[in-house]
Amino acid sequence: MANQVVVSPAWSGVEQYRWRRLTATWMLVMLCLFPVLLLLGAFMRIVQANWLPTLLPEWFYAVMTLHGLGMVGTWFVGAMAAVSYVLTQYVRPSRAISWGAMGATLLGVALLLVTTLVGRFGVGWYFLYPLPFYPAGVWPTWATWAFLVSLAILGVGWTVWALDLLRAIARTYSLRAALAWPYIWGRAEPEVPPAILITTVSLISALAGFLAAVILLVLSVLEWAGTGFTNDALLMKNLIFFFGHVLVNITMYLGVVLVYDVLPRYSARPWKTTRMVAIAWNTVLFLVLFAYFHHLYMDFVQPQWMQVLGQVASYFISVPAAVVTIFSTLVLVYRASMRWTLSSILMYLGVMGWAIGGVAAVIDSTIAVNLRFHNTLWVPAHFHTYYLMGVVLMLLGFAAHFGQEVSRQPENGRLTKIITALFVIGGYGFLLMFYLGGAHSVPRRYAVYPQEVLQGADYARIALGFIALLFLGVMLYLWETGRRCLPAFRTSE
Ligand code: HEM
Repeated sequence: MANQVVVSPAWSGVEQYRWRRLTATWMLVMLCLFPVLLLLGAFMRIVQANWLPTLLPEWFYAVMTLHGLGMVGTWFVGAMAAVSYVLTQYVRPSRAISWGAMGATLLGVALLLVTTLVGRFGVGWYFLYPLPFYPAGVWPTWATWAFLVSLAILGVGWTVWALDLLRAIARTYSLRAALAWPYIWGRAEPEVPPAILITTVSLISALAGFLAAVILLVLSVLEWAGTGFTNDALLMKNLIFFFGHVLVNITMYLGVVLVYDVLPRYSARPWKTTRMVAIAWNTVLFLVLFAYFHHLYMDFVQPQWMQVLGQVASYFISVPAAVVTIFSTLVLVYRASMRWTLSSILMYLGVMGWAIGGVAAVIDSTIAVNLRFHNTLWVPAHFHTYYLMGVVLMLLGFAAHFGQEVSRQPENGRLTKIITALFVIGGYGFLLMFYLGGAHSVPRRYAVYPQEVLQGADYARIALGFIALLFLGVMLYLWETGRRCLPAFRTSE
């Protein structure tokens, strides 16, 4: 079966069944959350279109917080679950820890729902200090506490999960081998699959990000508990953006693991670790620590060398990971006897979406440009591009592959074409309205646009038409893929 992710041959049929059931549960959680969070995004565009003029703006901000955190979290856990399944070909992660991470995720999400929808906590997804501590009568004190507790629960669950995957890798490969260092010195021994290399790089970076989050939470609690201790706002901003930037980048890289592992099954060409791939991903491991500085260009108190380093790191980080992967994807597909299925099409489009969003991100990370684009809709434009049309498509591609593997039902080619068309037209149309808004200086995070940038409301209205197309595509996709995942619960072969 050329297109199957085969669980380690040493594992019994029961073990394989349990992994499939676990992965199917994760995929269904991810696929159920997606349309709900998408509708929250549509709700924000409806408010920005001025179609709900009597709505209190604080609802916009509560929904924005839930949508942002929900989306970032959903795709991170989806990517972790999918990568765990892919890794079972080579190593043995713990299923119990993955179930535990699911419990922590559901508990954290339930608390977030209460915090935002009951408490109207509306600080935005990266809860920039000191905003959470100044509710200004909009949200009650308990909402800030509940938010901090929910972050702590998610943080513990995800950190243990990341540690377990690294433990599983370390039991089979040494850290040196997992990071493919012998390849850099010209030796292709021991053989390391790209999935192991990229996952190791991603998880080490993720742990650094989680560590920053722990420091952030402890400092926040110290201040919020009324000890008289006051935080340094610049330090807090650095910690927040380090954590947020790393989390988002890691999700992208975990999506790329799936592409490296699954796409070759459809092109019948192997995609192995090479010296270039090893150098590229080790460079990422280093540069990902510094690229986040580009979020602080407007902070004049940040030392200047950090700003320069931020620009240099932002430019160079796009070369190893993105360029090497995009170029390799093109080589993999070019003149290959490709089997274009829903899975391979979405994965290919995902890599191209990453490229487009990456270019827009590099433009924004240029200090001279950032001066104009900072906090305009250009920012959501670029990160929505590499999320929605990048990592989301990669993960939907993986789920389609997984559903095909467990159901073994033939694909409906006509439906695949319709879904693809709706995703591309709906997705890029929706994004274009963000880009046009950014180019016309429409600010981000405005519930209601002032007279000076009223064209923002027109873009929001047009965007809603495209969002409707995308939503239709997502529903068709869910019908097609969701039911294919169900047999994973039925058989133990
Ligand atoms: C069609 C799907 C989506 C729609 C309609 C949508 C819509 C929106 C809108 C209108 C905003 C507020 C923009 C502003 O600042 O004025 C926003 C923010 C955001 N969205 Fe989405 N979005 C979608 C998909 C996604 C996806 C896939 C992600 C993936 C992680 C995502 C993550 C975020 C984040 C992190 C924010 C920032 C929230 C904040 O500023 O605190 N969105 N989205």
